[in-house]
Amino acid sequence: MSDPQPSPQSVIAPALDLARVPSHIAIIMDGNGRWAAARGLPRAAGHRAGLEAVRRIIEACREYRVRVLTLYAFSTENWRRPPDEVEALMRLLGEALVDELEDLMEAGVQFRMSGDLDTLEPALRKQVEQVVAVTHDNPNLVLNVAYNYGGRAEIIDAVRRLGRDLASGHIIPQAVDEAVVGRYLYTAGLPDPDLLIRTGGEQRVSNFLLWQIAYTELYFCEVYWPDFDKPHLAAAIAEYQHRRRRFGGIEDA
Ligand code: IPE
Ligand code: IPE
Ligand code: MG
Repeated sequence: MSDPQPSPQSVIAPALDLARVPSHIAIIMDGNGRWAAARGLPRAAGHRAGLEAVRRIIEACREYRVRVLTLYAFSTENWRRPPDEVEALMRLLGEALVDELEDLMEAGVQFRMSGDLDTLEPALRKQVEQVVAVTHDNPNLVLNVAYNYGGRAEIIDAVRRLGRDLASGHIIPQAVDEAVVGRYLYTAGLPDPDLLIRTGGEQRVSNFLLWQIAYTELYFCEVYWPDFDKPHLAAAIAEYQHRRRRFGGIEDA
């Protein structure tokens, strides 16, 4: 991207209608590498700075009473990156799970993960499962981290398991509808996102939540993820509040 970055401080938080805040916000946290490159730092430093932004945005979502926050942190395609970057990203997840647990408990945040846990390091997987279990009953916000996540992989996994249940007679073909398919996805039990934000300037979905975003409002901004802060989130929510969602119907008279 050759466009100059807008100053991260240049956004002033707009007034929001707190009764119409999206229930589920999903974010493609992009731009960590470019943020680091612009400062002459290694890409891993960008990911570390990105974790700070995650903390700020969890806090802001708590304040705005968002119910579910889904963060795209590692895609099934991100294994194509150099091994040292992949390793840094895995290490960061492990560290964050240790460092943040106390704050998650204090803030009443329930931790969930969407993605293929089977191919993660067994120790990391165990750590994830422990934090999921410990935070299970926290009532304030669901933090759903999409890790080793791919929308197509998720659908393939769902088709396999649904296929098994069809073959065994556990479910009959006529009973398969949108709700049933939804129960086989990693996001089972969560509402579809109302708002999808992508930072970092690219305007694409990159294999994120392909089934779930059928009627989600999309919002793209130039700011690199490590610079994303509460006023940027507020700007995205304000824009959402100006949209008219029709779901294929017509405006109310
Ligand atoms: C997003 O930032 C974080 C991950 C994909 C893990 P990038 O690392 O993709 O940053 P850019 O897009 O190269 O700037
Ligand atoms: C999407 O960003 C994945 C995450 C933010 C985890 P990428 O940087 O991997 O996406 P592309 O390669 O630009 O499409
Ligand atoms: Mg990127």
